[in-house]
Amino acid sequence: IESLRLAIHEKKLNVKGKPYYEVTVGFVPTMGYLHEGHISLIEQAKLSGCDIVVCSIFVNPTQFNANEDLSSYPVNLERDTKYLQDAKTDILFLPNVQEIYPKDFSTYVTVESMAPVLESIARPGHFRGVATVVTKLLLIVKPNIAFFGQKDAMQCICIKRLVEDLNIDCKVKICDTKRENSGLAMSSRNSYLTEQEQKQATLIYQSMLSIQQNLEKYTTRSQLIQSLSTLIESNPLMKIDYISLSSPINGNETTEETPVSKGQVLSLAVFFSGEKRKTRLIDVLIL
Ligand code: PAJ
Repeated sequence: IESLRLAIHEKKLNVKGKPYYEVTVGFVPTMGYLHEGHISLIEQAKLSGCDIVVCSIFVNPTQFNANEDLSSYPVNLERDTKYLQDAKTDILFLPNVQEIYPKDFSTYVTVESMAPVLESIARPGHFRGVATVVTKLLLIVKPNIAFFGQKDAMQCICIKRLVEDLNIDCKVKICDTKRENSGLAMSSRNSYLTEQEQKQATLIYQSMLSIQQNLEKYTTRSQLIQSLSTLIESNPLMKIDYISLSSPINGNETTEETPVSKGQVLSLAVFFSGEKRKTRLIDVLIL
């Protein structure tokens, strides 16, 4: 943490033509095993006029619950470093677990409005871990702007809430989901799937698009959810964990009475029973 502070300080002093206090620091937090989706956030930071771009890689143990894949979360630091260098990232922040969660650590951040969110119900404790680590990272890096991917729609809502509620002096920018040419949302977890399985998984996005293109057909939320579920589960390897249709403002589920409409957030999690292992894939589409 101390060497990160020094590095930011030094880079700030070296930004030509701007006084220290006008230098804009952009920040992209990640858990590593980087792909073009992450890199698109770095590029977005550059395009947004950030003079210094910091990326963190930290596989955050508190956001994985007991049944999840913390120990097998993919790691490839050498490749990640190369990716970040190619993208001209200024600083890589690579804290270890003891540094973020020292022995007597006992303060957590809970965004209470996340409780009824389906992703939260499906992954107990997940958003508490995300909120806690993101708060810590923002306080350590002190960026002017932090960049997050819309693919993790509920994570974005959670982070926007905590930044506002805790008066953290940082803008939050939400960036588009980067996809494979096939439409499959890029994810570190795609590496758990064989090439053949990745092709099959494109059904997720295609099905969501088909719902969006035929939106006028669905008068109620349950009709829409049922149709999407049927489309996706037509592939026997896929099993819906949940499908959510929610408000873009607070992430609350729409009710059966709320008319289905453009602008609502359609998000889902699907279990893919692959050859190597069972993988949970998520995606989101703004209708
Ligand atoms: P991770 O899954 O590594 O993602 C880091 C950032 O990259 C998140 O903001 C995520 O939404 C974004 N991202 C992932 N796939 C993307 C894609 N295909 N297109 C665009 N952006 C994409 O999300 C986390 O890590 C963690 O929860 C974290 C915020 C770092 C806290 O630990």
